[in-house]
Amino acid sequence: MPAEIIDGKAIAARITAELARETAHLARSFNVQPGLAVVLVGNDPASQTYVNTKVKKCHELGIYSEKHVLPPETTMAELLQLIDQLNRNPKVHGILVQSPPPPQIDEGKVVAAIDPSKDVDCFHAVNVGKMLIGDTDGFVPCTPYGIMKLLEYSNVDPAGKHAVIVGRSNIVGKPMLALLVQKAKGANATVTCVHSATPDIGAFTRQADILIVAIGKAEYITADMVKEGAVVIDVGMNRIADPNAARGYRNVGDVAYEEVGAKAAKITPVPGGVGPMTIAMLMYNTLKACKRHHGIA
Ligand code: GUN
Repeated sequence: MPAEIIDGKAIAARITAELARETAHLARSFNVQPGLAVVLVGNDPASQTYVNTKVKKCHELGIYSEKHVLPPETTMAELLQLIDQLNRNPKVHGILVQSPPPPQIDEGKVVAAIDPSKDVDCFHAVNVGKMLIGDTDGFVPCTPYGIMKLLEYSNVDPAGKHAVIVGRSNIVGKPMLALLVQKAKGANATVTCVHSATPDIGAFTRQADILIVAIGKAEYITADMVKEGAVVIDVGMNRIADPNAARGYRNVGDVAYEEVGAKAAKITPVPGGVGPMTIAMLMYNTLKACKRHHGIA
């Protein structure tokens, strides 16, 4: 039987509809508008698309947004100056610097310069630490948070299940590990993380009840690497050449969707799976930052 499709677009729409109602309530009852500043250094086409989508979503939900596009040769000092200005701007509750930046930019230093109370990406060490110890006072990073919500809305309870994460990035793999292992409702999984130094990745992925793949390799996970009835979450977004496509390419995930879909119980499509959830949770974090700033519960 083909897998049930986990429709990230539909789930994200339900979450953002609720956030739009909340934004209207904040305006009506408190005269407050959440604000997000998005910073892009350079002209990477994929990053430009992501940033524009984020700004558009803010507009749809009634969130104030600022887009700062800096030239590829921007220096650290210039970027840090902008961060400082945004940290002090009362209209801005969330700051996001699109990753990856050009090579002269030290991403660690940039993240460290963001006021942790405005760190809606949850990249700052203070917020990463809070997440790890299960302190809900900080933020949860957008993509892993979106995946937790996908599982929740699809009635997949990770408790007691074996979750295998493929990839150990700071943006997805590591925080995913921290969230799924928490002693908390919607978590409580047994978690394995495999990566580029793991000798036989398939030996681990075949044991997964929940398989989360974020390694940035097109269609890397094939049917022989997946257990019958697994829940498969594909975080990948890779451009591959396709002479039949109007643009000359198409986007595929890290999972060979057709063959794995024939074996899995549930699977996320690419696009329309994890991507829309990342943006929905960014909006959620921006509202959270705003409410915290104004002391609204
Ligand atoms: N690049 C890819 N994903 C993300 C994300 O969630 N946040 C930021 N800032 N950059 C990204």
